[in-house]
Amino acid sequence: MAHLIDGKQFAAKLREKMTGQIASIKADHNIVPGLAVVLVGEDPASQVYVRSKGKQAKECGITSIEHKLEDTTSQEFLLNLINEMNNDPAINGILVQLPLPKHIDSAKVLEAIDPAKDVDGFHPINVGMLSTGGKGMVPCTPLGSLMMLQDYHGDLTGMTAVVVGRSNIVGKPMFNLLLQQSCTVTMAHSRTKNIEDVVRAADIVVAAVGVPELVKGDWIKPGATVIDVGINRIQLEDGKTKLVGDVHFESAQKVAGAITPVPGGVGPMTIACLLYNTMVAACRHNNVELPAA
Ligand code: GUN
Repeated sequence: MAHLIDGKQFAAKLREKMTGQIASIKADHNIVPGLAVVLVGEDPASQVYVRSKGKQAKECGITSIEHKLEDTTSQEFLLNLINEMNNDPAINGILVQLPLPKHIDSAKVLEAIDPAKDVDGFHPINVGMLSTGGKGMVPCTPLGSLMMLQDYHGDLTGMTAVVVGRSNIVGKPMFNLLLQQSCTVTMAHSRTKNIEDVVRAADIVVAAVGVPELVKGDWIKPGATVIDVGINRIQLEDGKTKLVGDVHFESAQKVAGAITPVPGGVGPMTIACLLYNTMVAACRHNNVELPAA
């Protein structure tokens, strides 16, 4: 049976380390990192995310500001709010929760955020920084996935990795992060031919396609490490619902060397990395070194 990579525990350890680092930034420089989260509309999943972001930020010593706006909010209002936050020195991180209502151009909104405050790492400047190896902001879910891989394996140099799913939020940045770590990386997606064979060639599999239980046990190389980014709610025959990943956990755990569960794998790491990015941004804005953990 595969080793279970416990994202919940890893995230709790990371938050504990950050709490100490944030306390020392305050003690030494009188800086308190500030995170602003903007939620437009009433999407229930987004409301849950935003609530946990705010709660965990405060627990780590980060000031958390929430802007909850009506779903009829105009794009102009949102752009003005972002502009104000870009100019507010107390705010180090700005996150606009996606998806946005249809009448708002998401790309335009994300591009309005100061790249130095873009703790989601979605601004085109940060996307470019990641692919050229610059000092930008790295998207939270891929960053959390990489941290877990490095914690388990140490150096990833020379390993073969397959990323399944080519989204801008996870797949593409994950590809670049693994490449930066000198993995030999393949990007697989819905049009990849013989995808099972492509996945079976990899020492590391990152599944981020949004298709429930797509990656089966017999797609996986024996002993490989599997990071399951998917969170899908499926309906069971008895009418109940269940959260599953993009990997068929039951068959995969019999073949893999290590695997992240859903829930309790990548999910908790995403929020922890958002707080990490906010702490890093606060240090960069004030020209202070990030204290050792
Ligand atoms: N909606 C779901 N996940 C995310 C995320 O990581 N960032 C933002 N901004 N919106 C999301």
